[in-house]
Amino acid sequence: MTSLPLPAHHPALSAADPELAALVGAEERLQADTLRLIPSENYVSRAVLEASGTVLQNKYSEGYAGRRYYEGQQNIDQVELLAVRRAKALFGVDHANVQPYSGSPANLAVHLAFAQPGDTVMGMALPMGGHLTHGWGVSATGTWFRGVQYGVRRDTGLVDFDEVRELALKERPKILFCGGTALPRTIDFAAFAEIAREAGAVLVADVAHIAGLIAGGAHPSPVPHADVVSTTTHKTLRGPRGAMLMCREEHARAVDKAVFPGLQGGPHNQTTAAIAVALREAAQPSFRDYAHQVVANARALAEELLARGFDLVSGGTDNHLILMDLTPKDVPGKVAAKALDRAGIVVNYNTVPYDPRKPFDPSGIRIGTPSLTSRGLGTQAMAAVADWIDRGVTAARTGDEAALAVIRAEVAELMSAHPAPGIPT
Ligand SMILES: Cc1ncc(COP(=O)(O)O)c(C=O)c1O
Repeated sequence: MTSLPLPAHHPALSAADPELAALVGAEERLQADTLRLIPSENYVSRAVLEASGTVLQNKYSEGYAGRRYYEGQQNIDQVELLAVRRAKALFGVDHANVQPYSGSPANLAVHLAFAQPGDTVMGMALPMGGHLTHGWGVSATGTWFRGVQYGVRRDTGLVDFDEVRELALKERPKILFCGGTALPRTIDFAAFAEIAREAGAVLVADVAHIAGLIAGGAHPSPVPHADVVSTTTHKTLRGPRGAMLMCREEHARAVDKAVFPGLQGGPHNQTTAAIAVALREAAQPSFRDYAHQVVANARALAEELLARGFDLVSGGTDNHLILMDLTPKDVPGKVAAKALDRAGIVVNYNTVPYDPRKPFDPSGIRIGTPSLTSRGLGTQAMAAVADWIDRGVTAARTGDEAALAVIRAEVAELMSAHPAPGIPT
């Protein structure tokens, strides 16, 4: 039995399962007290949390609105239609499927919809910033399908479209993925669309990381260019853990069939409801401000880091994310990430393009500004953030635990002045 305090605002949970309730309370404190810089994370609102904890989760609803395999869908159909309507309006798409359980199943569904096992699919290589589910070897998408990969240029850290075109015309993939998980620069959807057209591939824009920036007008939209848009809902979009597939009408049937019955069973209705709430929030003017502030903060943080001698992949950022190569600082990414964690700064270690080190012990760390922006931090706070990272990385190299403890106290003080959305104080 843990000795952690029980969270008073979860009375039923605390009474029924104090051990678990205490862990939830501890996680709330951790998320409140630390500077969370993992670019794929965020703080959802209380409204999103409430929606995802409703009795909607008690209901089975295999199928789609009006075409279910279970009765009693009077309310669930309305919930799903609301989420679909809001997704279509927010992103300006013909069709939206809000049922994928998460980003990885969404991308597997895309494979089911547009390729046969053994067919070639093309995406950015994982160590270059792509995602596992774009045909990378250890993923089902790279073992059941034949994945071919493009990267970024060694000198610029940017995609070389001549190389992508050459590879696509040689390999003739059924699906071309653009987007990824460690990409600090704007994605040129039009350039990818032209190549996909020439190669006869379906273009899938995986905008999991930047969906909130797109919704808020802080990154160009893939919708005019991509056949299918895949996204998670829990990163910059600030919704529950889930995903959506959006597409032109011509692909709607294939996408829907692939999600259900192709890959999944009953949708997680409580998540669908929370997605609907997040989409409503993302349609408000304040969310546009949020999205632009995320980018302004990332740019300011990148400038501050460059001024402190950090090596940033591609030289900076256009979005919410910064990928740092710590080789010149003489600290492996994992050592730095673990030291920063002890200093109350949560990042993840990450490979950098052409990384000579192994994925589990790479050269870089990946940081981003979605969470700190949700707590109301602005560009004026980025010098302090860069300073903590700088001091933390130095302390990681020298093994200075006392310095890390000092940073942790400073971080906690700033965080206490900026309450985390969704977490009772
Ligand atoms: C670009 C991209 N696609 C897909 C995913 C997979 O999402 P999930 O972790 O929800 O399966 C991620 C997650 O990091 C991602 O960054």
